[in-house]
Amino acid sequence: MDVTGSADRFRQACDEARRRGDVVGFVPTMGALHQGHGRLLKQARDECGFVALSIFVNPVQFDSQTDLGAYPRDLGKDRAVAGALRTDLLFAPTETEMYPGGGPEVTVDPGALGERLEGASRQGHFRGVLTVVSKLLHMAGPCRAYFGEKDAQQLALVERLARDLDFPATIVSCPTVREIDGLALSSRNARLSPQERRAAPALFDALSAAASLARGGERRADVLKAEIARGIGAEPLARIDYVAVVDDATWEDATSVQGRARALAAVRFGDVRLIDNLVLPEPAARSVQNTSEPEGSPEER
Ligand code: PAJ
Repeated sequence: MDVTGSADRFRQACDEARRRGDVVGFVPTMGALHQGHGRLLKQARDECGFVALSIFVNPVQFDSQTDLGAYPRDLGKDRAVAGALRTDLLFAPTETEMYPGGGPEVTVDPGALGERLEGASRQGHFRGVLTVVSKLLHMAGPCRAYFGEKDAQQLALVERLARDLDFPATIVSCPTVREIDGLALSSRNARLSPQERRAAPALFDALSAAASLARGGERRADVLKAEIARGIGAEPLARIDYVAVVDDATWEDATSVQGRARALAAVRFGDVRLIDNLVLPEPAARSVQNTSEPEGSPEER
């Protein structure tokens, strides 16, 4: 595996791969790699001749210095994980390499969706995400870029970024990888106390209960949201930040669930804030698989 901190080298390596006739697969991350990231890398490996991974803790998308400072960093371990998954290139730039003039003056406006849900809780977050993703996609050039459904709003905004600003990238969505008890893998899980860790699956359980109701024919978003809030509320250590049911295509709040919808929630356990989401299945489509529900081997969750 080639490891570089140079944006020029990253750009060149992707250009060379394309000249050889390879499809470039690109997986942007902030490091602290776990099996969720691993799932993205494996899919890229299966589908592309050349796989590039970026690790950059992007200061511009953090609204709190404390959060930024507390973000786990372990490049040595990440290198080993990436190498074991047969990654071709690891791009791990410094802040100066990414933002030579300091913070960027020109940034990407995420539009109305960027102000809602995660955007409402974290001021400027999606502007920071779309700005760094734009820079990374410009460096990678034409590619397949892999993002996790775990961060469904981020994925939706990156799809809009590529569509609205004509990036020559195909955005590929990967299902959420979960622990055996349903908790979505996240670098933040390590900060949960043992008690909070035991309580944290309440988030997935509550979303799953709403998905079951939807499968059984419940179409009223208020009822589905109340079910999620009730489930999470039953866990004394959990504090709800938001619960939402949105149309999966438009991301508008649904009043009545028509077609494919998505339930989302953000919950605090102590000072750790976790997010998760699930597709709400249509009653008639019992055979349609909800890729976010646990099934198969633990590693695939
Ligand atoms: P990060 O949190 O490191 O996540 C990198 C990618 O891994 C994202 O696409 C995220 O959705 C995906 N991911 C995280 N946990 C996952 C899980 N349990 N299952 C499946 N995929 C998972 O998201 C970011 O970094 C940053 O915002 C970034 C896009 C790199 C821009 O800075």
